[in-house]
Amino acid sequence: MAVLPGQKAGDLRSAGRAVRRLLIRGGRIVTAVDDYIGDVLVEGSTIAAIFAHGQAPSIDAPVLDATGKLVIPGGIDAHTHLDMPFGGTTSADDFESGTIAAAHGGTTSIVDFAIQYKGQALREARDAWMKKAEGKAAIDYGFHMIITDLPDAVEKEMDVLVQEGVTSFKLFMAYRGVLMLDDGSILRALLRTGENGGTICMHAENGDVIDVLVRRALAEGHTAPKWHALTRPPRAEAEATYRAICLAEMANVPLYVVHLSAAEALERIAEARDRGLPMHAETCPQYLFLSYDNYEEPGFEGAKYVMSPPLRAKGNEEALWRGLRMNDLQAVSTDHCPFCMKEQKELGKGDFSKIPNGAPGIETRMSLLWDGGVVKGRISPNRFVELTSTSPAKIFGLFPKKGTIAPGSDADLVVFDPNRKIRLSAKTLHQRVDYTPYEGRVVQGAADTIISRGEVIIENGTFVGRAGRGSFLKRKART
Ligand code: URP
Ligand code: ZN
Ligand code: ZN
Repeated sequence: MAVLPGQKAGDLRSAGRAVRRLLIRGGRIVTAVDDYIGDVLVEGSTIAAIFAHGQAPSIDAPVLDATGKLVIPGGIDAHTHLDMPFGGTTSADDFESGTIAAAHGGTTSIVDFAIQYKGQALREARDAWMKKAEGKAAIDYGFHMIITDLPDAVEKEMDVLVQEGVTSFKLFMAYRGVLMLDDGSILRALLRTGENGGTICMHAENGDVIDVLVRRALAEGHTAPKWHALTRPPRAEAEATYRAICLAEMANVPLYVVHLSAAEALERIAEARDRGLPMHAETCPQYLFLSYDNYEEPGFEGAKYVMSPPLRAKGNEEALWRGLRMNDLQAVSTDHCPFCMKEQKELGKGDFSKIPNGAPGIETRMSLLWDGGVVKGRISPNRFVELTSTSPAKIFGLFPKKGTIAPGSDADLVVFDPNRKIRLSAKTLHQRVDYTPYEGRVVQGAADTIISRGEVIIENGTFVGRAGRGSFLKRKART
């Protein structure tokens, strides 16, 4: 980080902790709609002013020289699973390690998934996840609520959650007996969001079909990790996606499909959007950069990629890129749900159905998407910002506090070097997991300095923030 003559490098860091002001000078400011060279003045936790480059009055403030770099809104990852019990174990990153890793990668807000267990009140579940995050999160965090049980009292309670800032709910069409809701309950939840302004996030896979295929594969002696993918066909995702759209259409409410992976599921979303329906979907880097071929890696290596939906055959990724370009997909989130190979993924040695579902990615999202998207000419820098920050902020009730660079917005900013190349490796990443699906991949584009609500929290690759400084994001409902 460059500093003005006469200013010690340490000034900025200490100022970062208690600063009232910071001038980010000479960067290329890129939002979802803007692209110009300018100076951003941060005062306290928010953006005070933006000046055409060189037009800032003389200001008594530390200066961060962003010449040659981009200044973009902090990334928003709307899909993470920190400290989450799953399949007899718990995801390897907690709110401290996970949010620090996120910050290193240029993400300054997450929306994580709290789980309501059967028989539990939603507020109790929300409070349990609040306890996991408080005192640990290094960046701001909100929650979606996973509903696994919807008696009338819980349906009513959805309104309270929305009023208290947990404005989205995840429902599962898979994992019968654990997480899955029946279609009638899904319809009731959708209808309720029509009244309370919440948003339903859908895990769209036909769980009953998958369960039959899994039982049959195991009975035939197929136990290797690749059978996770072979028992979750794209049609099971496309069918559930279409069913979810139909249910949302009947309830006359918007829908957000999470972790969309298959081209044919995307076709269902695109067709609905062409009919003018407010259907939204995200995809994740794993579906853009990896494929079914990864399950064919030797030995038990395929377990690294066991996630749901699974990685798809090559060719699907180009359809997803087209969807991102054409706005049939509105966001790229990570579905960060890390399990170590040792002792966690290993639980499924000899039975693929016991491999905990999920993979790490909270730290690598922005670099992967810049490299695969912008550097490779598939999306513009504006669209990159829209997909990683602005659009999730708008869909999940955080805009314009988050998701843009404008006076009054939170000073969540990333000084991003569009040219720096980095080699991704579990050894140098900060995620608390013993592998990355992208080991050895060289990507162009990396976050240099990260500012969260006016505080420098990553400087020269070092975390200089504080665990526990993150705040709960009380999100707005749809109006
Ligand atoms: O395999 C996955 N995606 N694990 C996390 C849980 C979910 O369904 O998002
Ligand atoms: Zn899911
Ligand atoms: Zn997930």
